[in-house]
Amino acid sequence: MKANIVLLPGDGIGPEIVTQAQRILEKIATLFGHDFAFSSQMIGGISIDQCGDPLPQATIDACKASDAILLGAVGGPKWDDPSAKTRPEAGLLKIRKELGLFANLRPIRLFDQLVDSSPLKREIIEGTDILFFRELTGGIYFGESGRSGSGPDETAFQSMAYSVREVERIVRMAALAARQRDNRLTSVDKANVLEPSRLWRQTAARVMAEEFPDVQYDVVLVDAMAMHLINRPRDFDVVVTGNLFGDILTDEASMLPGSLGMLPSASLGSDGPGLYEPIHGSAPDIAGQELANPLATILAAAMLLRHSLSLTEEANAIENAVANVLADGLRTKDIARGGKHIGTQEMGAAVLERLVK
Ligand code: NAD
Ligand code: IPM
Ligand code: MN
Repeated sequence: MKANIVLLPGDGIGPEIVTQAQRILEKIATLFGHDFAFSSQMIGGISIDQCGDPLPQATIDACKASDAILLGAVGGPKWDDPSAKTRPEAGLLKIRKELGLFANLRPIRLFDQLVDSSPLKREIIEGTDILFFRELTGGIYFGESGRSGSGPDETAFQSMAYSVREVERIVRMAALAARQRDNRLTSVDKANVLEPSRLWRQTAARVMAEEFPDVQYDVVLVDAMAMHLINRPRDFDVVVTGNLFGDILTDEASMLPGSLGMLPSASLGSDGPGLYEPIHGSAPDIAGQELANPLATILAAAMLLRHSLSLTEEANAIENAVANVLADGLRTKDIARGGKHIGTQEMGAAVLERLVK
């Protein structure tokens, strides 16, 4: 198969981890006889530095013309001035919106080999397998915002809105995924306080009753969910939630497999290319030190093969290679407990070595 893959390395550890994932994709192409063409484009802080824009039109055009996109991360202290007129993160939000990537799939998969590396107890986490559907192009992230007044009366606001259409499409996608898994869906909201959550809850309940009566469905408030996730994570199969809640809950959930550096994600729309990225950020505290765990990005590359290119066998090959690296006791430093610590490039090489058809 021929495929055009756009790489968006971005900032901080972004370039380091995308390089490792690219090596893996290149080997997949060789092993399985595919023709992958890569083009690197600018996004984030590095792009602000070079052209004043965190998402230049050339990047948008290249992404739209591609089959799939692999992103590292954006952001860092250099661009964190709250009064700056643009930010690296704005580039990421804009590419998601431009490509209509409303569904962010974040699988919380526990590799058996890492169960004892988690800060949580084996008896709580063993067997955890959750698939989050985070709504990605709506909610408070894209609400109207502004400032008014001055001095102690200066006020800032950002509104949260969801439409029926936006809720319906993400709930449908999540429910369809539940049918392929353990047939259970949990919707997470804050309907006891927020109006958009009440619309979310009503809409989700209607879609589930009308279209998915066979899927076991329940709702949980987001504050309670934060607790349930680390107390009884095994009870959840597919979880659907809004943009902000999904962002926060999945960083929390990364402690189930033991590190933020292990979790990949896929951002999908109803058509067009998908965007694949680790859920973590640019980790400026460890950038350039060979400390970044490239596995989340490598696993994101596997998701890219599975979801955008329908290359299931190839995706499985990557995931098996990662499992074998972990089984051999190799770990980057973020996975604090147990194993032999190796660097970013060594981890990429270790996966590459174990990648077989
Ligand atoms: P972060 O996810 O970058 O880092 C949080 C902690 O986890 C840090 O201690 C970091 O060293 C560690 N970590 C993250 N990824 C790791 C990896 N692969 N290997 C080893 N350790 C890893 O979050 P932050 O520090 O809050 O944010 C830093 C910057 O990243 C901010 O500018 C933020 O806006 C941005 N960010 C970007 C994305 C993205 O591009 N998708 C996501 C989250 C945060
Ligand atoms: C993520 C990040 C982004 C988000 C930021 C950097 C815009 O935290 O991808 O999880 O909040 O969506
Ligand atoms: Mn996040």
